[in-house]
Formats: sequence, C-alpha cells, structure tokens
Amino acid sequence: MKLFIDTASLQDIEEIASWGVLAGVTTNPTLLSQVEGDEDDIYRRICELVDGPISAEVVADDVPTMVSEGRRLAAIHPNIVVKLPTMAEGLSATSQLAKDGIRVNMTLCFTANQALLAAAAGAAFVSPFVGRYDDINEDGLGHLAEIVEALGQSAYDTEVLAASIRTPVHVMEAARMGADIATIPPKVFHQMLHHPLTSAGIEQFNKDHAARLARKDA
Ligand code: E4P
Repeated sequence: MKLFIDTASLQDIEEIASWGVLAGVTTNPTLLSQVEGDEDDIYRRICELVDGPISAEVVADDVPTMVSEGRRLAAIHPNIVVKLPTMAEGLSATSQLAKDGIRVNMTLCFTANQALLAAAAGAAFVSPFVGRYDDINEDGLGHLAEIVEALGQSAYDTEVLAASIRTPVHVMEAARMGADIATIPPKVFHQMLHHPLTSAGIEQFNKDHAARLARKDA
C-alpha cells in the first residue's frame, strides 16, 4: 500500500517527505483553511516537495465550473489530481476531465456503489472516508473493506485511496485488506513510527556502545 500525506502544511509535508516514505499528497478546503498563502503557490510548493499525485479539490456545484476549475488546477503541474465530490455533477465532470486525460480523485465516497460509479465515470482514485463513519458510530473499516472488494472484482483501474484516516490501526487494517493507498495525517505518521521497545532498544544500544568505547580508552 502506498502512503500519501493528508495535509496542506508545507512544514509537515517537508518533514515526512524527508523520511523518504511519501508517494503523494491529498489536500481539501478544510486543510487549506488551516494554512496561510495563495492556494496555487501552496500546490506548486507541494509538487516540488513530493513527486507523486497531489490532490487539489474543486469547490463548485455545477458541472461547467467543476470542469473549468479542474482544468485550471490540472494546468498548475502534471502531478496535480483534481479532487471532486461523489455527486451527480461530480461524476459528469469526472467523465469530461478523464476524457481529456486529467486524473480525478472522487472524494467523500462512503459506499461500494458510489465507488463503482466513480470508477465507471473514469476516476483514477476513489477516496472512501473511514473516520467519518466511526464518528457516527458505524464501522468505517468495514465499509472500506466492501469498497476494496467491490473494486477489486471489477475491471476498473481506479485506485482505492483510504481517507479520513485517524489512527495507526486504520492504516494497518487498510493495508491488510488491500487498499491501494492510505492518506495519513502527519500526527498518525508519528504514531505509526514510534514504539517504546524501539526507543528502549536504541537507548540500551547507545549505552552499551559508549561503555565499550570507554573501556577501550581506559
Ligand atoms: C482526504 O482526502 C480527506 O479530505 C480527508 O482524509 C478527510 O479526513 P477527515 O475526515 O479527518 O477530515
């Protein structure tokens, strides 16, 4: 499973990109509202930091605006992927953009049927939201599993991009069920990495190494 980062924070992207683990980035209007600066400049900088699909979301509710804004965003950089909501207008816009060779990430996907419609419209990625199901006391991972299975049985090349990831367990389970990608908030990357036994082991090895050096110098 490929790992994307889910943020518009350049500082966080730079930090996690330096680990050499990032294959792409997703943003959304909420994440962009948390950072300062011109949106197009932010997308350009992200494209410099990470060489992979960078999702930039269109905010519109009519097809012509979705298509023109999608074309405008796609022209910023070849790695930009246009993010559109899973609704009728979003499907129409996706199918038009896909015919022009522009990749679309259909977002706010909650069911296997929505995912199938997104794939049929030509979406390159479909983003099932896990955490938002958990927020309403439903099994987000269970719904993700249905979508992975349904698209896996289909003839479409659409990649399943597990989104609304809130915990390391979400990441691990998405990988185990065969999701193509998970987009992960910076905090969860840190939670994935840290383990008390790793920290304790490093501390002990450093102590033993220092003790050996001290004996050699004595
Ligand atoms: C990613 O594409 C989504 O916009 C994001 O993962 C949503 O996450 P949230 O439900 O934690 O806001």
